[in-house]
Amino acid sequence: MRLANKCGIITAAASGIGRAGAVRFAREGAKVLVVDRDKHMAQDAVSEIRASGGTAVAVIGDLTQESFARQIVHSCCKEFGGVDFLWPNAGHPGAAVVEGLDLAEFDLAINLNLRSALASVVEAIPIMRQRGGGSVLFTASTSGLIGSPVSPVYSAAKFGIVGLTKSLSKRYGKEGIRFNAVCPTATDTPMLRVFVKRPDDAATKDEDVEELVKKRATGNAFGRTARPDEVASAALFLVSDEASFITGVALPIDAGATA
Ligand SMILES: NC(=O)c1ccc[n+]([C@@H]2O[C@H](COP(=O)([O-])OP(=O)(O)OC[C@H]3O[C@@H](n4cnc5c(N)ncnc54)[C@H](O)[C@@H]3O)[C@@H](O)[C@H]2O)c1
Repeated sequence: MRLANKCGIITAAASGIGRAGAVRFAREGAKVLVVDRDKHMAQDAVSEIRASGGTAVAVIGDLTQESFARQIVHSCCKEFGGVDFLWPNAGHPGAAVVEGLDLAEFDLAINLNLRSALASVVEAIPIMRQRGGGSVLFTASTSGLIGSPVSPVYSAAKFGIVGLTKSLSKRYGKEGIRFNAVCPTATDTPMLRVFVKRPDDAATKDEDVEELVKKRATGNAFGRTARPDEVASAALFLVSDEASFITGVALPIDAGATA
């Protein structure tokens, strides 16, 4: 098992990419703290993991609250005795346009995509140092590697995530703490439906959401969206010791979209 004797945290783990990661990591032997604001879905994810013999605990809260984003690290220590991996995966599509943008919306997108991730990392670093190392995995996006005409605020936040990944990898490498990021393209989750049809985007107002999802999938070499488990597979590799010489990487999971 690729994560035997490891324990850690995945945020936004009740749905989509985070949930696929939690299930996969647990199957590989990890004890997983399933963090989400949706109690029902988080408990459902934990039940799924336990039903296949894995170990998981749900912790419920809103990651835009700094105290909660910090506290999850200590919850993991309490439940499992430490933190070997931290995957702050929560995100928010943000506004589609900047003209007329209420900056409170900008703050919300930056808060969840970037600030909350950093808040957890701040708490995890001393714990990982004390344990002789650890692995932090961020969720950026292809929009954190190339500009997005339809998600400018989101793109700015995800570029920030990539900046943290690269900078922190250089700062903490000698202490055995690795920092990497997955950068998925359109992935078949509930959030993709929000991405393709946002209330402030007049261009998509009259379009069918599933047709918009299909259109979004034409932007890569395979002509389809990613499955959450395909992102989870890459995440598993980056978090595991198999990636022991890999840090500072922002890995596109994008079927060539950014090639
Ligand atoms: N789906 C895509 O096409 C895509 C592409 C690139 C990157 N991403 C990124 O992947 C990550 C996961 O997205 P997904 O598509 O799996 O989403 P999803 O919609 O499937 O799940 C999001 C989860 O986050 C939880 N959540 C939302 N706000 C929260 C908050 N304030 N506090 C705690 N939990 C909260 C929700 O309850 C939900 O369970 C995000 O960072 C997103 O930006 C997604």
